Amino acid sequence: MSDSTPFPSFPSGFVFGAATASYQIEGAADEDGRGPSIWDTYSHTPGRTDSGDTGDVACDHYHRYPEDVALLRGLGVDSYRFSIAWPRIQPTGQGPANPKGLDFYSRLVDELLEAGIEPAATLYHWDLPQALEDRGGWRVRETAERFGEYTAIVAEHLADRVPRWITLNEPWCSAFLGYSVGRHAPGAKEGTGALAAAHHLLVGHGLAMKALRAAGVREAGITLNLDRNVPATDSAADRAAVVRADTQHNLVWTEPLLAGRYPSTDEDTWGELITRQDFRRDGDLELIAQPMDFLGVNYYRPIVIADAPHREPDPALRVATDNRYAEGKYPGVRHTAMGWPVVPETFTDLLTSLKETYGDALPPIHITENGSAEHDEVAADGAVHDADRVAYLHEHLTALRAAMDAGVDVRGYYVWSLLDNFEWALGYAKRFGIIRVDYDTLRRTPKDSYHWYRKLIAAHRV
Ligand code: FCB
Repeated sequence: MSDSTPFPSFPSGFVFGAATASYQIEGAADEDGRGPSIWDTYSHTPGRTDSGDTGDVACDHYHRYPEDVALLRGLGVDSYRFSIAWPRIQPTGQGPANPKGLDFYSRLVDELLEAGIEPAATLYHWDLPQALEDRGGWRVRETAERFGEYTAIVAEHLADRVPRWITLNEPWCSAFLGYSVGRHAPGAKEGTGALAAAHHLLVGHGLAMKALRAAGVREAGITLNLDRNVPATDSAADRAAVVRADTQHNLVWTEPLLAGRYPSTDEDTWGELITRQDFRRDGDLELIAQPMDFLGVNYYRPIVIADAPHREPDPALRVATDNRYAEGKYPGVRHTAMGWPVVPETFTDLLTSLKETYGDALPPIHITENGSAEHDEVAADGAVHDADRVAYLHEHLTALRAAMDAGVDVRGYYVWSLLDNFEWALGYAKRFGIIRVDYDTLRRTPKDSYHWYRKLIAAHRV
């Protein structure tokens, strides 16, 4: 991609943004009354994260947020998506609010508004108060109820200044990576627990939507990581495996949220594990399917799916790790530092197929995350010439524009991420930022991708 490749162009009013999440950037883990979260516990457990990395300091955004807001202002974004750490607001996940926790987000929001940037707040980006996990975490309905209460507290304080609210970030990761694959906090390996968690996350979303409506917020929705699962071959077996993968990654969320029903492919995917569930209660679907103002979609890469036999002998553990499919290689394309294939047209396909499936029931879409981890190097002049990331962003924004041309109503795009940060179990080794963070000095250096995105945004200003 050369510097002269023209930018894709977006309609006026299209929202350009950048995104982060609390545990990945804030640090200050013990400060101002913050309680421990499941990610503190998980990252401090030996062997859980690469190099034993934790979010104790991260980017120290908790103290350096004015500098980060200044960088956002320099970038020219319309909106900044951040997340609120539940354990800062309620250190044990219930009871009265911690004023210092609320105050931090209040100051951040004011700083953003002064910079002319619209705040977009995510209420849950995976940092569950540990005290709630000790009582069962998302396996139990009580956590969903506590989430509704926490949302009411936050909304009461910030609804007047924060126009866009996201209840949950990527509940697939919370439920399945957290309770079945065990690669995310709390690191559990369970079958039924993961399915119960998926359902209770949706119930929590519904309760949070109610609290946000009661507070009169302008826009509320959820963010899903929807996957584009492509069959390894055209065989009937591989295509059936794609249906199972789609069920777990996409339909378990989109069917209740957008169509008010559970996936018809449930039983074939999970067998008797799903037929003997008692966590689904009457009235839940109505709660979950409340109309949303937007659907947040995070998209990074397609997944190649091949039919496979069960690898896991225990039927209760087959829920996510092992639904009779295996991930294959995507030949002939570039892969990012995450090992993820770069196939931008699958982004277009995902969005157009969502529209085909749900039609008018599909709310307007915000792309709440998209970006890439690359093998960044600091040049002699101190700059980071991240041409691969620039190409990735350029191609994905072009693919997004193609989906819009095909009739998908997309209102905004948030690049992941503003800063290099704590990439969960992969620690600090994977860098997604358009701004480099030197983890020794915490110095921020805008990369070439930052300047590219700044110019793209500027090109849209009259
Ligand atoms: C998403 C997460 C985000 C970040 C990116 C790379 O799954 O929402 O926090 O880790 O992936």
